[in-house]
Amino acid sequence: MTELMPVTEPAKIILPDAQTVTSVKHWTDRLFSFRVTRPASLRFRSGEFVMIGLLGDTGKPLLRAYSIASPAWDDELEFYSIKVPDGPLTSRLQHIKPGDQIILRPKPVGTLVHDALLPGKRLWFLATGTGLAPFASLMREPDTYDKYDQIIMMHTCREVAELAYGRALVESLKDDPLIGELVGDKLLYYPTTTREPSQFMGRITDNLTNGKVFADLGLSPMDPEEDRAMVCGSLAFNHDVKAVLEKFGLREGANSEPLDYVVEKAFVGDGI
Ligand code: FAD
Ligand code: A2P
Repeated sequence: MTELMPVTEPAKIILPDAQTVTSVKHWTDRLFSFRVTRPASLRFRSGEFVMIGLLGDTGKPLLRAYSIASPAWDDELEFYSIKVPDGPLTSRLQHIKPGDQIILRPKPVGTLVHDALLPGKRLWFLATGTGLAPFASLMREPDTYDKYDQIIMMHTCREVAELAYGRALVESLKDDPLIGELVGDKLLYYPTTTREPSQFMGRITDNLTNGKVFADLGLSPMDPEEDRAMVCGSLAFNHDVKAVLEKFGLREGANSEPLDYVVEKAFVGDGI
């Protein structure tokens, strides 16, 4: 007698801390974003990062730090990622599809949080490349608009195409049913490129130092009484922006000692 085999779903690999990919969008050949399910128990502050990854060839988790690009209230988690051609993680991560699983270690940490800044009137988000990710979270965070009168998002990339994720996000905020009204006209967006012509050009450091960004947006120069800043980019960028902010009189803060500005690495690897 032939036994009938039960029809089953294809087996899912059981990973520790596994989450399921729900959507993926490729923005350029070097940049993509994706969303995954959120563990019910995961609590985080908008702007923090977690460790995510895939199982490596040896069967051990291959994990990297990633800023959570979605706000704390979102049902899912969003990430914005580079594709490093020979990168141990991203050479594989770039091929994920909806239904695939990734590993997520649910221990969020980071300094780009509202708690690490003293109260102020204007909040500056200063990012290069994928350093936009924590601000993709914070631009969708209601606290950002409750705490500040004006938020200025400066994002700089080499080429126009690299600005696409940030631009689409900012444009979507106006009509967002949850956050649109809060955002109102409080958010000023200042995207610039350095190696391809676009509406606004130049490095963030230069545009702050020569006053171009203040002139273009009709703003007064930075004042430590009123201005607060969060910075996320390469080590060289962070280093140079810190010097600019200190010249304006802002002091670096931390979770343990809230002050005028905070800094996080967008990635490690270009040493200074
Ligand atoms: P790795 O071996 O990790 O990196 C190889 C080289 O690629 C590095 O030495 C560096 O030169 C370059 N590189 C790595 N990441 C980047 C990047 N993001 N942009 C430009 N060059 C890079 N990466 C993201 O894509 N999105 C994030 O939100 C993000 N958040 C981070 C938060 C923190 C606190 C830190 C420390 C890093 C973050 N990173 C982020 C970088 C991330 O951890 C990995 O380095 C990246 O995913 C590449 O992994 P990999 O294994 O493929 O290559
Ligand atoms: P530039 O093209 O003038 O080097 P990268 O892709 O090298 O990480 O750079 C991303 C963006 O950050 C580029 O527009 C780059 O400008 C800018 N950038 C890189 N290093 C610095 C720095 N030390 N200070 C200010 N901007 C920087």
